[in-house]
Amino acid sequence: MTRTAIVTGAARGIGAAVAKKLATDGHAVAVLDLDESACGATIDAITSAGGRALAVGANVGDEASVTAAVERVANELGDPTILINNAGITRDNLLFKMTVDDWDAVMNVHLRGAFLMSRAVQKHMVEAKFGRIVNLSSTSALGNRGQVNYAAAKAGMQGFTKTLALELGKFGVTANAIAPGFIETEMTAATAERMGVGFEDFKKAAASQIPVNRVGQPEDIAATASFLASEGAGFVSGQVIYVAGGPKD
Ligand SMILES: NC(=O)c1ccc[n+]([C@@H]2O[C@H](COP(=O)([O-])OP(=O)(O)OC[C@H]3O[C@@H](n4cnc5c(N)ncnc54)[C@H](O)[C@@H]3O)[C@@H](O)[C@H]2O)c1
Repeated sequence: MTRTAIVTGAARGIGAAVAKKLATDGHAVAVLDLDESACGATIDAITSAGGRALAVGANVGDEASVTAAVERVANELGDPTILINNAGITRDNLLFKMTVDDWDAVMNVHLRGAFLMSRAVQKHMVEAKFGRIVNLSSTSALGNRGQVNYAAAKAGMQGFTKTLALELGKFGVTANAIAPGFIETEMTAATAERMGVGFEDFKKAAASQIPVNRVGQPEDIAATASFLASEGAGFVSGQVIYVAGGPKD
């Protein structure tokens, strides 16, 4: 069945791959990112393959921006019943050097953003008696040096997900989290640069620690999101799926 999906942070990286995959699955897709014009490449890829997409500029951490964005999607694309909370940033530093701004910025995008988006979209899902919410967590939720803010936010995403599953299940809405390991995107490229390591060497070192012997690609996450958003995944809810090329706790 064709539905309307919103993918946040879909101008590039994992969000772009998820948006393209959901469009291939037959859904109309709202490609949401901070800057509407940055969504062009994702929109072109979807429409040139025969899909339906709408570029939406919005800041997921801002209540008014989220309300306006979700209303626009409902009016122009249809009631959203699939939501992928993917928008994210890193502001890495060791605890003793971390600023309050670094802490707040990460909390605002991941946790406040997922909360505001889910709250705005749930009414469409409850009315439709169908919904699929997929939240991007991370293996960093298990703890990662230099990421006290990000690890806390990504662990928070897991508690948030399980609670959505408990509250919304009776309305036909599932909520699950994907916790990726190392995925090759601009986010991990920026991490390599910050650490003064070439991206190829950085990826090689990461791959050597991963059981399937490679780093992940955005399409690896898109395939999992596609499953969790599908009709057939209706009995899977409140789960955290580690997509990391090997087992995690
Ligand atoms: N790349 C990885 O290895 C990895 C691993 C685990 C989890 N993740 C998570 O997956 C998600 C996507 O990561 P990515 O690697 O594709 O990152 P990315 O930096 O390539 O893309 C993130 C996108 O989110 C957008 N964004 C940031 N703040 C926003 C806001 N306030 N409102 C709307 N959009 C906003 C950015 O503009 C960007 O287009 C993030 O939540 C990230 O934490 C990534």
